[in-house]
Amino acid sequence: MTDQAPAPYAGPKRVLSGVQPTGDLHLGNYLGALVKFARLQHETQTFIFVADLHALTEWVDPKKLKSNVREITAAYLATGLDPKVATIFAQSAVPEHAELAWVFNCVARLGWLDRMTQFKDKAGKHKERSSVGLYTYPVLQAADILVYRATHVPVGEDQRQHLELTRDIAQKFNHDFEAPGFFPLPEALTQGPGARIMSLRDGSVKMSKSDPSDASRINLTDDADAIAQKVRKARTDADVLPEKVDDLAGRPEAQNLVGVYAALAGKTSQEVLDEYAGQGFGAFKPKLADLAVSVMGPIGGEMRRLLADPAEIDRILGAGAERARAVAAPVLADVKRIVGYWAG
Ligand code: TYM
Repeated sequence: MTDQAPAPYAGPKRVLSGVQPTGDLHLGNYLGALVKFARLQHETQTFIFVADLHALTEWVDPKKLKSNVREITAAYLATGLDPKVATIFAQSAVPEHAELAWVFNCVARLGWLDRMTQFKDKAGKHKERSSVGLYTYPVLQAADILVYRATHVPVGEDQRQHLELTRDIAQKFNHDFEAPGFFPLPEALTQGPGARIMSLRDGSVKMSKSDPSDASRINLTDDADAIAQKVRKARTDADVLPEKVDDLAGRPEAQNLVGVYAALAGKTSQEVLDEYAGQGFGAFKPKLADLAVSVMGPIGGEMRRLLADPAEIDRILGAGAERARAVAAPVLADVKRIVGYWAG
């Protein structure tokens, strides 16, 4: 045990989230995560990073990794994150994440990780050929969050299970090392119609970077024509839109497009139905396409403008990493003391 009782977390609400630099960002990433980052930064301390340590869990071309990190950073900036307000950085520039992850590897139980559905999805039939990193990835995610003692994590629905694991790890650490309340139990912020955006080709699977069909998603870098065409070609059914949200049940594609419209317009799905009930997709899709182009179109343009000056992006990431380390280092130092490390 420690000489001094560690102080429970009593700081302000603190937001943290991250995105992996693998492939193009899409509408699901935007509505499930990025749009919330920009909003939350004005409410409280906000830490947003690019998860380049996580990217290594699957093969990524070393020549591309750094430019992918810059691209995600450009997306953060183009969707409204302000580096003077939020702390924006690359995970690999803050070694405290990986150091805390080791301690958490010894706190988390194998049985907990065995239940992670994302590992099962990503590993598929080739579990034994997957990297060990892919398996323990949610433990690193817990360290990402708790090394800042973050209290709120804006993410899409698919990250909910990882957040539950983070809470389990925080709770077990606090209990086993007799450090009550040292780590807060962070909450996932998944509210709103954008939390689970589905593929435009199949309403039963989520929109994803790894879907081989580019028509299944709207990329942040798509131009206006591509966006409009993908919306026009999105799979739908032949019925008109109903009056009540409950009546969208069993119509996954219709439910998804109404949800996308609602999230882009900052409305609820019911408000969208109040406007479009009784109309078919022939009328609804052009309206959705116009809305998507007006919201998403400028983001791609701004990303291209920002990416033309990589040195400025690197400067922002460098300054963000310094600020992030100033918060993470004392937390890690406390952890080392709490667990009794010689170097603690
Ligand atoms: P990643 O890179 O897969 O996705 C980034 C964010 O986008 C959300 N998202 C979606 N939201 C709605 N509909 C969809 N179809 C959709 N697809 C993706 C994800 O939920 C996520 O919020 N493990 C994380 C990265 C990470 C992280 C963290 C997040 C690493 N450490 C700590 C939060 C806190 C991931 O792979 O996200």
